[in-house]
Amino acid sequence: MKSNSHTENKNIPLKKIEKCLKGTRFNEIKRIEETGSTNADLVLRASEAPDDIVLVTDHQTDGKGRLGRVWESPKGLNLLCSFLLTPKWAKDKNPLVTSALALGVVDYLSTIGVSALVKWPNDIVIPERDNKKISGILAEQVEGEVERIVVGIGFNISWPTSSQEGPLDAISLKMLGATFDRWTVLAGIIENFEKQLKLLEELNGAALLRRSLIAHSATIGNQVRVETANNIIVGFAKDLTEEGFLVVNDGNQDLQVNAGDVVNLRKKI
Ligand code: BTN
Repeated sequence: MKSNSHTENKNIPLKKIEKCLKGTRFNEIKRIEETGSTNADLVLRASEAPDDIVLVTDHQTDGKGRLGRVWESPKGLNLLCSFLLTPKWAKDKNPLVTSALALGVVDYLSTIGVSALVKWPNDIVIPERDNKKISGILAEQVEGEVERIVVGIGFNISWPTSSQEGPLDAISLKMLGATFDRWTVLAGIIENFEKQLKLLEELNGAALLRRSLIAHSATIGNQVRVETANNIIVGFAKDLTEEGFLVVNDGNQDLQVNAGDVVNLRKKI
């Protein structure tokens, strides 16, 4: 695994990475010291900020996770950022923005020697460490005169430092023995996210992303338990649709799930 020796420089980090925006759709990286939630901030700004931008913070006091959960992270240790996007694709591809970011993160991690997979729908996990979660993604669609999408990512860089800290299923780059500063990771993620968004824009973008998601899935091929808002499904996770739905065969029929929590019951071999 590669490592870099940068210690974080509080004064110049953004200047250092702003050049990574060249050739991407993002015009600016804004950094704020503390906020409630970078996703909530961008949702509020969506109607007035015409550009696609990146908002990064050192600390969130009300970080939002999927399904109404809280995303916790101590100040200054992990990457907490959100992207404000103007879709350049058909509306039915909007849910795939989460997948594009997830695949961008997996691709970035592979460039630093970390093998990661996507646990449906949007967790980035480390298969060699019992599928512990290194990153989570939350996307929100903002309706208005111009439709916008806000997609946020929490990425564990320096916290937790051991399995005694943080959520039980969490892991960080530091726990994997990699020392990276937040700005280097952010630059790598932006670059790889942009590549995936360009794929999404292609006519067969949904098919391309589906293929890549299946190839990098920690879920497909496993016996799973899926907890949805009003149901529990136990069965074989056999496929993903181009809309990003999980297809589970419960022994009788194929069921398509669009949201839920997955527990892997038996791993694929
Ligand atoms: C999840 O795994 O449940 C999704 C977590 C998403 C957390 C990120 S941190 C930056 C952005 N702002 C938020 O309030 N949430 C996302």
